[in-house]
Amino acid sequence: MGVQEGYPFDVEAVRGDFPILDRLVGGDPTTIGQDESDDTPLVYLDNAATTHTPDPVVDTIANYYRGYNSNVHRGIHQLSQEASIAYEEAHDTVADFVGASGREEIVFTKNTTEAMNLVAYAWGLEELGPGDNVVLTEMEHHSSLVTWQQIGKRTGADVRFIEVTKGGTLDMDDAARKIDDDTEIVSVVHVSNALGTVNPIRELASMAHDHDALIFADGAQSVPTRPVDVGDLDVDFLAFSGHKMCGPTGIGALYGREAILDRMSPYLYGGDMIRRVSFEESTWEDLPWKFEAGTPSIAQGIAFAAAVEYVEEIGMERVQAHEELLAEYAYEELDALGDVDIYGPPADERGGLVAFNVDGVHAHDLSSILNDYGVAIRAGDHCTQPLHDEMGIAASARASFYVYNTLEEVDALVDAVEAARDLFA
Ligand code: ALA
Repeated sequence: MGVQEGYPFDVEAVRGDFPILDRLVGGDPTTIGQDESDDTPLVYLDNAATTHTPDPVVDTIANYYRGYNSNVHRGIHQLSQEASIAYEEAHDTVADFVGASGREEIVFTKNTTEAMNLVAYAWGLEELGPGDNVVLTEMEHHSSLVTWQQIGKRTGADVRFIEVTKGGTLDMDDAARKIDDDTEIVSVVHVSNALGTVNPIRELASMAHDHDALIFADGAQSVPTRPVDVGDLDVDFLAFSGHKMCGPTGIGALYGREAILDRMSPYLYGGDMIRRVSFEESTWEDLPWKFEAGTPSIAQGIAFAAAVEYVEEIGMERVQAHEELLAEYAYEELDALGDVDIYGPPADERGGLVAFNVDGVHAHDLSSILNDYGVAIRAGDHCTQPLHDEMGIAASARASFYVYNTLEEVDALVDAVEAARDLFA
């Protein structure tokens, strides 16, 4: 792929793969894009919630349904064999992408949340009890926070939170206090979806392992936006979602060290995950199928691999450089407005998102006015209510970037924020 001046790769060429970026907005949403009064160009800056899907990935889904739609692992007819091969090989592609040793370490799930729940139920309910503790951070997404909180209540394990400093980073002295010999697992978000903080996973992994605890990284915002290698990070589990990296919804992955997954009992029971069943007993399929009960998301799994190939073609180092370029520019331009509070680390130390509030304007009002300008952002607590409570705010506005966003779109964001601020002045 070529390079466009001012960017790490050819962003205009990438944009050509996403027809949705050409649509106009502003009309009646109940018409689902059929309203003739849609007249404002879309500026889509809600990529931490979900990214768009490029033509090669859409084509992969269409080709599956048009050409070889069939159930996997159940038939010896040709279509079933074709679907099975493509679905199984998709696990290999995802495994390679994060540096796993092979498909046995990659379980396809519905999303990051389901991957978290899989470990919490299959491992946590077995391994945790009174006297044990689970260490999270104050910046966890609800997918991790609520899951471990509830497993803690069921098992009697204590759930602790590493404090977040005023600068939006983890207090590593507090981490050293909270992670102790009774810690069984440390579950940490890699890149915060609310603050943009990039957490020191390797250091936390080393602290966890020094106490014979496991570490689970929530990679929902990191795997799509930077090179992530489970060996380099030294994590025991990693979860991520396809729809945040150009893939379809309904598919995500859990990486788990083979030896640990091997010891874990299944989370869901049923067809496709068994080897032999009698009225009294059942035995389980090999990894990863032991954890994929029932008909899986076949088209989505195959398209997940196509999405991985798409972002790999751009190059993950270049994806990261582009995220940082846009986030740094957005941070500086919003900061220059003067009455904007920006949360999290400084401009040059964050992932590709910026959460903020404009003095005197509620984040929901801001988002609504930005929508009038065609600018799509997210407003709310971003599934981090306790973090927002700690920061003393009810909500924030968040702009988040991906491979097709441009510096001009950041300008459009800042112009719209300025217009909203003037409206409320
Ligand atoms: N977790 C997603 C977000 O942060 C939905 O927007």
